[in-house]
Amino acid sequence: MMAALTSELRWHRKDLLGIRELCADEITFVLDNADAFKQVGTRDVKKVPALRGKTVVNFFVEPSTRTRTSFELAAIRLSADVINISASTSSLTKGETLKDTAKILEANHADIIVLRHSSAGAAHFLGERLSASVINAGDGAHEHPTQALLDLYTIREKKGSIAGLHVVIVGDILFSRVARSNIFGLLKLGARVTLVGPTTLVPRAFEQLGVSISNDIDAVLPTADVVNLLRIQHERQGKEYFPGLGEYIRLFGLTKARAKLLKPECLIMHPGPINRGVEIDSELADGVQSVILDQVTNGLAVRMAVLYLCGGIGKR
Ligand code: CP
Repeated sequence: MMAALTSELRWHRKDLLGIRELCADEITFVLDNADAFKQVGTRDVKKVPALRGKTVVNFFVEPSTRTRTSFELAAIRLSADVINISASTSSLTKGETLKDTAKILEANHADIIVLRHSSAGAAHFLGERLSASVINAGDGAHEHPTQALLDLYTIREKKGSIAGLHVVIVGDILFSRVARSNIFGLLKLGARVTLVGPTTLVPRAFEQLGVSISNDIDAVLPTADVVNLLRIQHERQGKEYFPGLGEYIRLFGLTKARAKLLKPECLIMHPGPINRGVEIDSELADGVQSVILDQVTNGLAVRMAVLYLCGGIGKR
């Protein structure tokens, strides 16, 4: 464990705002640190003193189950003091600005602020203005860097490496911060990425990032090493992008019949929350190829690594 933790000089960022700005070495460094922290989770005493005396604020202005609980537990495992703030219980409801709320947190000596927000760029905005570390826990349809890191970690853990793999991401790409962060990370680590979904939700402009696009899922699945299924994000869409759910399931859903096209060793992933029976058949979500719960478990180790690395740089 110490080999990874003591080579801290390879990390120089106080904030984790996105995967786009990270290089492959930085991504790999976070994953290697997560390996060390995953091992901590197997001990009788699952806590380390790495962030003792530091204060972590989970500031979630948008709903979350996985990310919020994972960051909270990660901070506790690192021996930090943790407080949780949600939009409905904060003075944001009285008209206070995001910046003023964050300044209040910093005036209370918060060392790390984990922010989820519906506006793209919210984490960058705070990161530029605060001396505290800012971790992006998802900003609008922009980026969700720790989700991508835990997805990369899970693929690396199951497949040994990421370079050369064919990763297929299916669904609502246009409104997905998970898709964007995954695309950046997968390409940097040498994977081949194909996006699949309705034309309206997978615009050709994504090809400029270096991915392939297909509207024919049955043609793509047989060569996939990993299939990552995304939820239709009705809350961000504001209008209908396809005729109906029945049509979507028929054309893009991972049904039991369609799953027969997959290689037996192909991983099935989903960042959650899952809409069972829509983007994925319920039995497949719980089946032998699914690594969905491994993703959740690995999220804890990855977030411990991110808090540890950024927390070691912030406020110096
Ligand atoms: N994957 C993810 O971000 O889930 P939550 O919205 O529950 O945090």
